[in-house]
Amino acid sequence: MNTDEKNQHLLAFLHLLGRFRDEEAGIYNSIAPTYERFAIPWDAEFARPALDYLLTESAKRVPKGGRILDAGCGTGLRIPEIIEHFEPEEVVGLDLSETMLEMAGRKHYAAPVSIVHGNMHSLPFEDESFDAVVATWAVETSSNPGHAVQEFLRVIKPGGSVVFSFAQMPESFLDSEDLTQKHNGRVIENLREALSPEHLPFHACPKSDLQSFAQGLISTVILGKCCEVSSRILPKPFDEFEN
Ligand SMILES: C[S@@+](CC[C@H](N)C(=O)[O-])C[C@H]1O[C@@H](n2cnc3c(N)ncnc32)[C@H](O)[C@@H]1O
Repeated sequence: MNTDEKNQHLLAFLHLLGRFRDEEAGIYNSIAPTYERFAIPWDAEFARPALDYLLTESAKRVPKGGRILDAGCGTGLRIPEIIEHFEPEEVVGLDLSETMLEMAGRKHYAAPVSIVHGNMHSLPFEDESFDAVVATWAVETSSNPGHAVQEFLRVIKPGGSVVFSFAQMPESFLDSEDLTQKHNGRVIENLREALSPEHLPFHACPKSDLQSFAQGLISTVILGKCCEVSSRILPKPFDEFEN
C-alpha cells in the first residue's frame, strides 16, 4: 500500500467514526466484510502507541483470569490483544451489528470468547459481573457516550476498570475538500486549535488515567468504579464544533 492509499484508508476510518451513530442505517452491517481493510492501517499506522499504552497500563490493574467485556467489539479485531494483555478466563464481545459479530464469531481465539448481540446503552449483564470493560473506537460511535460509559461502570466489579480509546475531530474538517493533503502535517495543527483542553477527558482521581495521543486526535481513558461520568471524559460530539 503506498502512502496516498494509506492516508485514504486512515481518513476513511476517521470518517466512519465521525459520521455514524449506533449502527445508523446499518452501516456496520454493510461494511463488515471490508471493515478491517481500514481499521488495521488505522491501528498500525496511527493508533498503535495509544492502544499499546491503554492495554498495557490497564492490564496492570486487572487480575489475570478475569472476565473482560469488549464493548462494541465489531469484528473481534481487539480480542486477541485483550487476551494477550489480560490473560482472562473469558472474553465477552458485544456489538449491535449482527454482521460484524458474525465475523468476530468466525475467528479462533486463544481463550474462551462469547459473542453477544446487544446495545452498550443497556448492557444485558448483571451489575459487577466483569473485571474490566474495554471499548476501542466504539464510545465515539455511540449516540450517547455518557450513557455507554455509565453502563460500563455499572457492570465492572469493585476494583475493576473501564478502559476505552476514542478519536474525535471536527466534522467541518472532515467535510473539507482535500482530505489526503490535510492529513499530511497541517491536519495536526488544525486539530490542536480545535481541541481545547477542556474538551479532553479528565477525571482527577487516582483510579483514573487520561492520555492524549496524536496531538489530541486520540484519547485513552481508564476509570475505576468510583469514577463519575462527566463530559470531560467523553468525546466531544462532532457537530458541536461546527459553529
Ligand atoms: C469502529 S467499530 C470498532 C470495533 C472494534 N472495537 C475495533 O477496535 O475494531 C465500532 C463498533 O461499535 C459498534 N456500536 C456502535 N454503537 C453501538 C451500541 N450502541 N452498542 C453496541 N455496539 C455499538 C458498531 O456496530 C461497530 O461494530
